[in-house]
Amino acid sequence: MRPDRVILNAKSPLINTPAWMALKTHFERVKKVHMVELFEQDPERFSNYSLQFNDMLLDYSKNRVTDETMQLLFDLAKQAGVEEWRDKMFVGDKINNTEGRAVLHTALRNRSEKPVFVDDENVMPLVDAELEKMKVFSDTVRNGDWIGYAGLPITNIVNIGIGGSDLGPNMVCRALEPYAHRSLRVHFVSNVDASHIEQLLRRLRPETTLFIVASKTFTTQETLTNAETAKQWFLDGAGRATEDDISKHFVAVSTNEEKVKAFGIDTKNMFRFWDWVGGRYSLWSSVGLASAIYVGMDNFIELLEGAHEMDQHFQETPLEENIPVILAMLGVWYGNFFDAESSAVLPYDHNLRMLPAYLEQADMESNGKSVDREGRQATYSTGKIIWGAEGINGQHAFYQLLHQGTRLIPTDFIASVQSHGNHDNHSQILASNFLAQTEALMKGRDIEETRQQLADANIELHKAENRLPHMIFGGNQPSNSIVIKKLTPRALGSLLAMYEHKIFVQGIVWNLNSYDQWGVELGKKLANDILDELESDEDLFEHDSSTKGLLDWFRDNLKES
Ligand code: F6P
Repeated sequence: MRPDRVILNAKSPLINTPAWMALKTHFERVKKVHMVELFEQDPERFSNYSLQFNDMLLDYSKNRVTDETMQLLFDLAKQAGVEEWRDKMFVGDKINNTEGRAVLHTALRNRSEKPVFVDDENVMPLVDAELEKMKVFSDTVRNGDWIGYAGLPITNIVNIGIGGSDLGPNMVCRALEPYAHRSLRVHFVSNVDASHIEQLLRRLRPETTLFIVASKTFTTQETLTNAETAKQWFLDGAGRATEDDISKHFVAVSTNEEKVKAFGIDTKNMFRFWDWVGGRYSLWSSVGLASAIYVGMDNFIELLEGAHEMDQHFQETPLEENIPVILAMLGVWYGNFFDAESSAVLPYDHNLRMLPAYLEQADMESNGKSVDREGRQATYSTGKIIWGAEGINGQHAFYQLLHQGTRLIPTDFIASVQSHGNHDNHSQILASNFLAQTEALMKGRDIEETRQQLADANIELHKAENRLPHMIFGGNQPSNSIVIKKLTPRALGSLLAMYEHKIFVQGIVWNLNSYDQWGVELGKKLANDILDELESDEDLFEHDSSTKGLLDWFRDNLKES
C-alpha cells in the first residue's frame, strides 16, 4: 500500500489543549445521555436553551448538551481566541494569511458611521460609492429607462458567473421572489455545459436582455466561455446589433479592471469590489447586482441592514448568548466529539430552497482544510459535509436515514412562520410538519410505545412482533430550530450573516484560514492540461492508466458528436 503522500512533521496542538481535553473527558460521561432525560430533568429547558434576535428565534434545546457541555464549549472558544480574532476581522487585519488579505465582507454592510481601514485607507467611501452606482443602475433598469440597442427596455437579466459569483445572488433572488419586480425575469448561467446557456438563450431576445458577467478574478474559464457565447449570440442574434451596442447589454462585476477591458466591456459599465471580499462572501457587494435589480435597491439595502444587525450581535454579545458562536460550538461538539461527518440544512420555506447549495460553498470551501493556519497537520476533523434540501420534500425522500439510519446527523431546521403565500391552511401544514420532525428526531419511539401502537392498530400478534424492531426509533438526533417571523430582506440578511459568522468561529477553533481555497487549484491546472490534449489530439502529459483510458474514450466519442 502506498503511504500517505502528505507528511507534515508538525501537528496542530489543538487536541492536547486544556479546553479540548476537558471536553473529551466530559464527552465520555455524557455521550449516552438521551435528550428525553434532559427534557424530563429540566422543565425550563426550552427557555434555558433558546434565544431571540429581532424576529428570529433560535431553539437549541434539542441538542445533546448540558449546562456543563455548553460551558466547556465556550471555554474552548475562548481558549481559541474567538473574541480576539473576531475583532481583528472587523477592523481589517489581514487574517487571510496565505493571501495576505483582510476579510471585510462586513464592511460591505457596515451601516454605521464607523470607518473601516485597509492599509490605512478608509474603505467605506469606496463601498458607499459602489452602492450608489448600483442604485442608479438598478433604478434605471427597473424603471424601464435602460434602453437596449433596438430602443426597447430590458426585461431579462442574465447573471453569468459561478461559485460565489452565482450562488449568493441566485439564492437571494429566489429567497426574495415576493419582492421582485413583476416584469423583470432573472436567470443564472453557471455551468460551462453548453446546454445551460443554450436552453436559456432560446427563450430570450437580444434586444431586451442584459448580461451581467460576474467574476471576482475575471479569469474563470467557465464564466468567460459562457460570456463569449452570450456575446456571440447577441451579435449574431437580431442582425442589427454591433460591437458598439455591447455596452447597452453587457455589464461586468469584478475586481479586475484589466481583464474586464480585455473582454470588451467598457469599464464605465463595470461594478467593482475588492480583494478583501472573498468570492463566497461577496453577495453583499456588487456581485449582488442581479439581486439588487430584481428586488430593488431599497430591499437590497434592507438585506445589508439585517446582516449588519447580526454583525453587531456577533461583535457585542457575550459568547454564552451569541447565536453564531452557539451554533458553531454545537457543530464542533458533534463533529469532533461524536464524530458526526455531516450536517443537514433543512429549510421549511420554498423560497429558501437554494440555501443548502449556497451554504455548501460557504462552509465547505471555507473550512474544508486539513492544514492549520501555521501549516501544521490538523489531527482532528474540520469542516463537516454540509447538505440539505427543502425540508418538507426531504421528509418524503431522505429523512428515513435521519430517523433510523446508523449515523448521527445534526440538523438545522429553518422556518418562516408567516408565508408569503395566501393559503393559511398550507402554512399550518408546513408548521406542523416542521414541529413534528424535530420532536420525532429528539424523542424517537421506544419499544413499549411502538408495541402499544401496533396493538391499537389491531395488528396480529406474530406480525406485530416481526414488525416491532423496524418501527422503533432511537431518537436522540440533535436539531436546531431557527424560526423567523417572515422571510423579509432584513431577516434573510441576518440569517446569512449568522451562518457566515458560524463558519468563522469554527475556522478559528480549528485554527484554519477560512478565507483561502487552494484546494480548488489542482483540478483547474489539470483541466487546462487535459484541455490542451483534447484540442490538439496529442498526448502532452503523463497520466495514470484510468485518466488516460477515459481521455481516449472522450476523444473517440467527441469526434463522433
Ligand atoms: O474555483 C473556486 C472559486 O475561486 C470560488 O472561490 C469562487 O467563488 C469561484 O471560483 C468563482 O470565481 P470568480 O468570481 O473569480 O469567477
